[in-house]
Amino acid sequence: MSPLFLIFATIVLAFLLYRLLSPSKPLPPGPRPWPIIGNLPHMGPVPHHALAALARTYGPLMHLRLGFVHVVVASSASVAEQFLKNHDSNFSSRPPNAGAKYIAYNYQDLVFAPYGARWRMLRKISSLHLFSAKALDDFRHLRQEEVSRLTRNLAKAGSKPVNLGQLLNVCTTNALGRVMLGRRVFDDGSAGCDTRADEFKSMVVEVMVLAGVFNIGDFIPALEWLDLQGVQAKMKKLHKRFDAFLTSIIEEHKVSKTEKHNDMLSTLLSLKDVPDEEGTKLTDTEIKALLLNMFTAGTDTSSSTTEWAIAELLRHPKMLTRVQEELDSVVGRDRVVTELDLPHLPYLQAVIKETFRLHPSTPLSLPRIAAESREIFGYHIPKGATLLVNVWAIARDPKEWSDPLEFRPERFLPGGEKPQVDVKGNDFEVIPFGAGRRICAGMNLGLRMVQILTATMIHAFDYELENGMNPEKLNMEEAYGLTLQRAAPLSVHPRPRLSPHVYS
Ligand code: HEM
Repeated sequence: MSPLFLIFATIVLAFLLYRLLSPSKPLPPGPRPWPIIGNLPHMGPVPHHALAALARTYGPLMHLRLGFVHVVVASSASVAEQFLKNHDSNFSSRPPNAGAKYIAYNYQDLVFAPYGARWRMLRKISSLHLFSAKALDDFRHLRQEEVSRLTRNLAKAGSKPVNLGQLLNVCTTNALGRVMLGRRVFDDGSAGCDTRADEFKSMVVEVMVLAGVFNIGDFIPALEWLDLQGVQAKMKKLHKRFDAFLTSIIEEHKVSKTEKHNDMLSTLLSLKDVPDEEGTKLTDTEIKALLLNMFTAGTDTSSSTTEWAIAELLRHPKMLTRVQEELDSVVGRDRVVTELDLPHLPYLQAVIKETFRLHPSTPLSLPRIAAESREIFGYHIPKGATLLVNVWAIARDPKEWSDPLEFRPERFLPGGEKPQVDVKGNDFEVIPFGAGRRICAGMNLGLRMVQILTATMIHAFDYELENGMNPEKLNMEEAYGLTLQRAAPLSVHPRPRLSPHVYS
């Protein structure tokens, strides 16, 4: 056989093998990656903004390469629906990342647990004991007490301005603490608060900031040990602080176990060593990891959304008046609003939906990973690809929303453009809680908390901004982390507007 023929045959064979083994469909479009680092430089300081801008060029289904990892980004409702509904079971685990390893007890928590028996057990336990309709109703009085406490403290504020976001955070943390641990986490001395509250909130915010960093080691495993951004070192340090905090809570709880407890931690401790029907047992570490999840995922998300809602209302005085009129007509001025009033407050509900649309507290949701390769809208999605859903961009898509940047709650009311649309994961144009199997476990609690807090704050007080600032000048910039904080905290003078006995 001639050498020329051999070379020719080899080339043809290689070509055929390449065609046979490589996917028949192309990857989705996206910006050209750099060698090794890929598209990491494209992420910019605020990734959900950078990705939204890129999607305007490359379309709603985009492919990036971050280091050595394939990343697909969904930036429209229909693309998100493909991933989170039609192909949800294939995208039900989260990709490996330093946060899960170094903060969340090496994936032993609920948020990062691989999809499988242990995830099901953790999700079932929290659904049953914390988030079922019954559990939510059983603990309603505790949330109400914490909100009333905040109301009383704000009424005593006097001439000093208060940092509303901080106090809302103390309230959500204490309400959760009472359900989870059977006790408040912080003191909240009149109008000020426990110094540990600052420390705790800063820990939660730090988790979110660190978890929001695109850590080079997650995308270029060979460089993990170098920890180029110093993220892993910060995570380890933070983990130690959190672990000490959680260990002390559990120890205190064990010491006081002679008292009758009706809280989630007691239930978790009693479930230890009892296998569930799939034979899975709960460990001490899993209990701590679950507490960590609830206090990180469940406090700042709700309080910062409430802070955004109040800021938007202060910037839109006519809407503020309309919410107050609705509350006055349904509740009156002789008592505080309760969760039982919420179904009768349609305008307030629309204000909350509009806040979730413009200020989703987790703008890139939480990442998922492709268990197997898939074809979506004619593109090849490789096995192992990370999926990012740009919840923030989807909710501002001009193809879905008229004047998308305007705060306009009326769009959710009868006669508006989206009267039937809700934020609970079925209408993909607004999915602040994600969707599918791994939708936010605490959605119903988060919704109730944001609704009752916003209703109470608006019903019980008028507000002046610190230093007589004009509300139109309120800084609405975002500070980036995994969650969407206000760049400038909301500093206000609350002025009671209900009968004086309500505050006593
Ligand atoms: C304003 C309130 C909240 C928002 C906007 C929010 C948002 C989210 C989002 C976007 C996800 C990822 C969903 C996905 O992958 O599709 C998530 C997951 C999760 N959230 Fe929330 N959340 C909120 C409140 C809460 C609360 C109050 C808790 C608990 C006390 C909580 C606990 C969790 C947990 C445990 C997960 C992980 C679920 C899993 O992986 O199976 N969240 N949340």
